[in-house]
Amino acid sequence: MKLLLPLNPHFILLVGILLTGEAFSETVASRRLAQRLYSHIAGVKLPLQDARISLMAGHLEANRLYEAAKRAVIVPAATPGGVELTNEDFINVNLFQFFAPKSVRSESPDTPMNDFIAMGIANTIADQPYTEMVEGDFTVSTLPSGRLTNTNLTISRPQRPSFPDAAGALTSQQFLSEHAINGTNRRIVQYAFRNFLCRDISQMRLSGAVAESLITKDVSRAPGGDAPKFMSECRTCHQVLDPLRKAFAFHDFDAATNRPVYSPGVVRAKINRVPAVMAGEPQPLGSVVADSNWMNFATGGSNQTYFQWDASIGVTGSGAKDFGRLIAHAGAFSRCAVDQVWELVCKKKANHIPPVLRDRLADRFVVDNHNLKKLFIEVAIQPECLGEPS
Ligand code: HEC
Repeated sequence: MKLLLPLNPHFILLVGILLTGEAFSETVASRRLAQRLYSHIAGVKLPLQDARISLMAGHLEANRLYEAAKRAVIVPAATPGGVELTNEDFINVNLFQFFAPKSVRSESPDTPMNDFIAMGIANTIADQPYTEMVEGDFTVSTLPSGRLTNTNLTISRPQRPSFPDAAGALTSQQFLSEHAINGTNRRIVQYAFRNFLCRDISQMRLSGAVAESLITKDVSRAPGGDAPKFMSECRTCHQVLDPLRKAFAFHDFDAATNRPVYSPGVVRAKINRVPAVMAGEPQPLGSVVADSNWMNFATGGSNQTYFQWDASIGVTGSGAKDFGRLIAHAGAFSRCAVDQVWELVCKKKANHIPPVLRDRLADRFVVDNHNLKKLFIEVAIQPECLGEPS
């Protein structure tokens, strides 16, 4: 492994500030660091002479690294006792980039505004916990076009009229239009895990017959006539996926009206889809879903180590909102947010984060009431983040 950090001038400058607390004679050095911090956090490179850079550089020279970084996220109140605002460069570039890929199946950062992104940004501006993204009952009903400001995204509640099962952005129009259309709602679970727990379904496999009886009939017990294949392959994923998927048994998306559908008490037809049976062939085996009571079997061995489920939530629940709570309270939820902010801000792969640092940042994030603005600041000021891209 290359040891880049100690040779990096920004790192030396930073250590200089941290250790000696002395003001730098060369203001241009602290302006450069301020410029770098601003572009890391907000996603915009400002000229060295910019007033905001001067302000940040002043903080750096006075040994106030956190205060300096904070200026890239929060604009102080214009008058004493006035309201702090969120930096609009941060809103329009990095915060947008944080939510955009999570809102589409392609995970492309070049995604136009949609209600998922608007919810994420509005929730962050309002200093609401990031956990609201998977369990909150809210939406942004009017999507602004053009540049986003502190005031053109308005949170409204409830998410939809007469809809008791809102799970933040998991039940947004956008997320359901991507993952509840066609298919069998398994993709909702798959992408909820990918986007909010940084875990691929293929990493959650369980061997042995742990919950085989809960796999529905559409998954053949002998694909292509190959029963061992079902046991060695299909079952490993589907006995985790299918019991969790029940959370969305009443959820659907109607392509004709382009609207989410929720039918309380009535399981959507696609959940119990059965393949056509040829004359003389046996009926397909498998579970029939009758309610939205889900079960979490990804709780043993490496899965427990990874997810760090909250014991107080339990391993069962009913509907999407409970499923969102399961996710929001897992240790992997805060760690995943740390990793995603890290990749965006530090422009480095998250697997380069020392595990102790990840845990520390994640614990801090939880203590900070899952405040995403503070997480951006905390991540950006880490010496491991400020170093050269790896
Ligand atoms: C790595 C995990 C994994 C394995 C292994 C796996 N599946 Fe799946 N399966 C999924 C996921 C995730 C979906 C949802 C995909 C989507 O809707 O985009 C799915 C969807 C399905 C569906 C519904 C397809 C539809 O029309 O929407 C069937 C049927 C299915 N799998 C059968 C099987 C069979 C048979 C095997 C073994 C040969 C198998 N799966 C192996 C994860 C897995």
